[in-house]
Amino acid sequence: MSDKRILLTGASKGIGYQIAKSLVAMGHQLIAIARSEKKLLQLKEFAPDQIEILALDITTDDSADTLKNYFIEHDLKLDALIHNAGLLINKPFMDQTDSDWRKQMEVNLFAPVTITRTLLPFFNEGSHILSISSMGGYQGSSKFPGLSAYSVSKGALSILSEVLAAELSNQKIKSNALCLGAVQTEMLVQAFPGFEAPLSPKEMGDYIANFAVDGHRFYNGQILPVTLGNPG
Ligand SMILES: NC(=O)c1ccc[n+]([C@@H]2O[C@H](COP(=O)([O-])OP(=O)(O)OC[C@H]3O[C@@H](n4cnc5c(N)ncnc54)[C@H](OP(=O)(O)O)[C@@H]3O)[C@@H](O)[C@H]2O)c1
Repeated sequence: MSDKRILLTGASKGIGYQIAKSLVAMGHQLIAIARSEKKLLQLKEFAPDQIEILALDITTDDSADTLKNYFIEHDLKLDALIHNAGLLINKPFMDQTDSDWRKQMEVNLFAPVTITRTLLPFFNEGSHILSISSMGGYQGSSKFPGLSAYSVSKGALSILSEVLAAELSNQKIKSNALCLGAVQTEMLVQAFPGFEAPLSPKEMGDYIANFAVDGHRFYNGQILPVTLGNPG
């Protein structure tokens, strides 16, 4: 199972940082994306030969071209794509502006759509697209005030994983979404100040890294809750 090439967004901190460390510990090659170049450089120190970093805002108009050119220039193929980068704006529904809603959608939904479409020509047969969604966007879960735009964006991301599984079945590409419960990160503090999550970023990062590499042998087109309760 070693030596796959995996692209991970949101690799600079929180859960993504730990997914990255876990993937390189398993022996895989990683392309790590986030806006903070400084934090990505710190990540690269763990395994300089296995980690390539791309400091990129995934919502900018030229990010797709940057990615495409990077793959062409380095003659790369991909085995897994993990949409982990996320934004959470915590505001009562009546205070959320159209701009807040757009920002949520741009990071949590439109960027995964664009990145997936851009990188599809570079996928190996049998690749896995894994979307990191949220229990907030899981049908029938408890919902929380302030998280309307975030939860809606994650619900849409989950459905994207279902439709991709159908669209890409003839290319033997699998797609799943993991809907996470609470994990102790900066985002969790924003969403639920004072709440103590039952899982650390390392625990969740290890689980997601393994699922990204192996989960599509068992699941395709699935929206899977990964939670000990909601929010935690
Ligand atoms: N923590 C939880 O309890 C929880 C629960 C359910 C779901 N999730 C989901 O799990 C994922 C990781 O969450 P987390 O808690 O680890 O969040 P986090 O600590 O806030 O990290 C978010 C990551 O996304 C990157 N990012 C944000 N906007 C970006 C942009 N425009 N372009 C490129 N990268 C961007 C950030 O890097 P830069 O700032 O350097 O760009 C950072 O690496 C998210 O999708 C989140 O919705 C988390």
